[in-house]
Amino acid sequence: MTATYYPAAICTALLAMAPIASGSERLDDGKRTYERVCAGCHETGVEGAPVVGKAGDWQRRSRLWDAVLLEHAEHGYLKMPAHGNADYITDYDVGAAAEYMLTLTHPELPTD
Ligand code: HEC
Repeated sequence: MTATYYPAAICTALLAMAPIASGSERLDDGKRTYERVCAGCHETGVEGAPVVGKAGDWQRRSRLWDAVLLEHAEHGYLKMPAHGNADYITDYDVGAAAEYMLTLTHPELPTD
């Protein structure tokens, strides 16, 4: 008799967790891409790349982070190569990596 209630309980639990799970999953994906592709330049500032974690490097960049910076990361901007020169990563990977970089640089901002 009680067994019939389990599926409903599990569904409710999964639904309740979903938003949190997808948010951190995206950041995990972004971390992987960042370390594989972007860190080469953005960890140390190669060619004047804004360094992750140094908020001052990012200050003069667009305040419209999501829209403009992600657009720049995807399509390239001045010396920032499109997709960080990695043809094999998707726009999703680039966006997640950029978001990860911004989260490290501005930990006080909400991730959404
Ligand atoms: C070959 C070196 C290199 C790699 C690899 C690289 N970047 Fe960059 N990136 C740069 C440079 C240089 C700039 C500064 C561009 C400028 O203002 O001249 C920059 C700027 C940016 C900016 C700021 C753009 C703006 O509008 O100010 C973002 C966001 C960014 N990179 C994201 C990424 C992401 C995400 C990756 C990995 C997918 C990545 N970068 C990989 C060199 C690199």
